[in-house]
Amino acid sequence: MKLHTQICDRLGIRYPIFGLTHSVDVAVAIARAGAFPMFALGRTSLETAEADVARLRSEIGALPWGINCFLTSSVVAETDRAAAKSALPRGHLDFVAGIRDKYRIPAPVKGNFFSNVVRSHKLIDGHAEIALASGAPVLSTAAGAPQRLIERAKAAGMLTVASVGTPRHAQIALAGGIDMLVAQGYDAGGHTGHIGTFALVPQIVDAAQGRPVLAAGGIGTGRQIAAAFAMGAAGAWLGTAWLTATENHTDDQLLAKLLAAGSGDTVLTRAHSGKSARVLRSAWTDEWSRPDAPIPLEMPMQQVLTGELIAGIEEHRMSELRYELCGQSIAYFNKPAPVADIIDRLVAQTIEALQSVQQTFR
Ligand SMILES: Cc1cc2nc3c(=O)[nH]c(=O)nc-3n(C[C@H](O)[C@H](O)[C@H](O)COP(=O)(O)O)c2cc1C
Repeated sequence: MKLHTQICDRLGIRYPIFGLTHSVDVAVAIARAGAFPMFALGRTSLETAEADVARLRSEIGALPWGINCFLTSSVVAETDRAAAKSALPRGHLDFVAGIRDKYRIPAPVKGNFFSNVVRSHKLIDGHAEIALASGAPVLSTAAGAPQRLIERAKAAGMLTVASVGTPRHAQIALAGGIDMLVAQGYDAGGHTGHIGTFALVPQIVDAAQGRPVLAAGGIGTGRQIAAAFAMGAAGAWLGTAWLTATENHTDDQLLAKLLAAGSGDTVLTRAHSGKSARVLRSAWTDEWSRPDAPIPLEMPMQQVLTGELIAGIEEHRMSELRYELCGQSIAYFNKPAPVADIIDRLVAQTIEALQSVQQTFR
C-alpha cells in the first residue's frame, strides 16, 4: 500500500500530509520529504516576512508550497506600539508589573515580534499582499477568509484554503468561494475553538460537499491519520509536530520542556494573545489563571500589554515562564528528530494502521 491519494496528484506531493510552520528551514524540509509545507507569516514583521519568503523561494525550488496569513479582524488602526500602550488599563498594567517583579524578568535587549510589532490593519494587509506576490501555489488563511482576498488569490491562480473550527465558519468560507478547508479541532496548538477534532472533522466534511477537508488538531501518529481518512478527510495538517524537529532550531531549554510534555500539559488560554489559544502550560499561564488575575485584554491589546515581558522571558531564557503554542499532539513527540524522519514515521504508521483496520474486518 502507498500513502498516495488524489490530493497528492492535485498538489504534486508524495504524501497527503501538510505541515504549518513559521520556520523557513522546517518548510523546506517538509517539502523535500514529500509532504506539503504551509509557511506562516502571522508572527513576522513585514520586513522579515519579505526576506523569509525570498529565502524560502530560493531554497524550495520547484517543490510545491503554500503561504499562510493570520487574518484576524481584531486589529488596531494604530501601528505605533507606544501610542497603543497609552490606552492600556491601569489594573492590567499593575498585574503584569507584579509578574515582572515576582520573577525578576529583565527587559528584552533585542526584542521580538511581540515587543516590536502591533497587530494592525497595516500588518494584516501587508501580509496578504506579500502572500499574493509570493508565487506560492496555495494561500491558506486562519481567523477569517475575506472574500475579496480569496477572489484575488483565485484570480492569480492560487488554490485557497481556510482553517475553521466550527461548521458555521466553514459555511462562511465556502460561501466566499474557498477551495479547501482545514477542520481544526480544540486539541490543536495555536488559536482554536471549542469543538474537538473527532467531533469536528465529519461535520466539516459534510459541510464541504465534496471539497477537500484536512484534519487538524492533536495529530501525532499515523493511527490518527488513518482515522482522519475514515472520517472523510483528504489528509492531515500538523503544527505541533515540527516544534521538536531538528530544523526548527528550538533552543535546548524549551525543547526539553516540549519533549517532556504530555497532552495534559497544554492549556487553552487567552493570556497569550487575547484570543483563546492552546499553549504549553507554564508559570505564565498559571499566573493568568489565578482567581485574582484580570481577564486578558482583547486581541491585539493583550500582546501590547505583555509583549515586552514575553520577549524578555524568551530572550533571557526564563524556563519556568516559557511556553509555546502547542497542541495535545505533543505527547507523541518525545525525542528530537529531523523532519524527514517524522514524516517517514507518520507515513509508515498510517499504512500499518490502515492495513490493521482492513484485517480487523476480514
Ligand atoms: C507553534 C504554532 C504556531 C501556529 N501558528 C499558526 C498560524 O500562524 N496560522 C495558522 O493558520 N495556524 C497556526 N497554528 C495552528 C496550525 O495551523 C494547526 O492547525 C495546528 O497546529 C494543528 O494541531 P496540532 O498542533 O495538534 O498539530 C499554529 C500552531 C502551532 C503549534
